[in-house]
Amino acid sequence: MEIISNPTQDDIKKAAKAIKDGHLVAFPTETVYGLGADATDEKAVSRIYSVKGRPTDHPLIVHISSINQLDKWAIDIPGYALKIANEFWPGPMTLILNRSALAKDFITGGQDSVGLRVPAHPVALKLLNEFEKLGGLGIAAPSANKFGAVSPTNSEAVIEEIGSELSQRDMILDGGDSNVGLESTIIDCTKVVPDILRPGAITIGMIRFYTEHKISISKTSNGIRASGLLKTHYSPKAKVVLGAEAKKGDGFLAMADISTPIGAIRLASPRTIEEFARQLYQALRLGDHKNLTKIIVIPPIGGGLSDAIRDRLVRSVIDK
Ligand code: TXA
Ligand code: MG
Repeated sequence: MEIISNPTQDDIKKAAKAIKDGHLVAFPTETVYGLGADATDEKAVSRIYSVKGRPTDHPLIVHISSINQLDKWAIDIPGYALKIANEFWPGPMTLILNRSALAKDFITGGQDSVGLRVPAHPVALKLLNEFEKLGGLGIAAPSANKFGAVSPTNSEAVIEEIGSELSQRDMILDGGDSNVGLESTIIDCTKVVPDILRPGAITIGMIRFYTEHKISISKTSNGIRASGLLKTHYSPKAKVVLGAEAKKGDGFLAMADISTPIGAIRLASPRTIEEFARQLYQALRLGDHKNLTKIIVIPPIGGGLSDAIRDRLVRSVIDK
């Protein structure tokens, strides 16, 4: 597999060609790194599942270069969905819409809906544009980690997660640290009322303004529609414990104004909620690098992005 740092336009062209030829390319987005394949190529998409060790009934997000590509993949798009797509794309938001005939069962996990997103990272957008110049229609990309593990927010984390599973003609594009650090907000737009399936940087308060509807946040997790909604996910090797007292040798993650308990090992000191989101997965990974058995996290308070951080933290807790 080839790893390319700060890819040039030519590098990105080469990566687009690799995807068109049926290979996998891990690429940066502003949320987390994705593992991309041609969304119309069943064989390439099946490799995503085997590399990740992900059950095949978990649907994938199709990434497109702009809102103009939406009609290819989705039908019966409600007006409110178009409004928020216009407002927040490119950006950290995925819309679940009724699928067109192009979105096959191997993308949607057999459901009649498809997840679509226009990412904002310049490398991701250039990759999508080059891919479309070659006749490509969309790039399917889950987060580039093993199923159930912490999403990668830089290329080192991608290599750590799936590097050994990639083949010679696959590629990793390195575009630095992901700016948001948490996966996109997923909004189900298949019903009259929008429903937030996964909270993220596009918050309920931001969306509310653009729809006349009441918005709901899905509290139920059926585990099949969205793997990120499984009760446990996003888990490091260390045991994550929320809000407990840190003892000597425990990892510790909290806002900078909360001091480190004596003997605990500080993993990050975010000064803002945005920094907390950006540093969360790197801090959990650092805990694993230090072979810690326990990481105590003091979750941030408040709504908005804090909701998304707490959502991931709650799911990262596994009984072990
Ligand atoms: O920020 C992100 O969304 C990143 C970057 C790479 O774009 N991608 C990502 O993909 O987080 P993944 O596969 O790790 O998580 C996507 C979630 C999954 O939980 C999946 O089940 C859900 O989106 N999803 C995809 N299509 C869906 C659909 N038709 N209905 C409901 N959930 C869907
Ligand atoms: Mg994921």
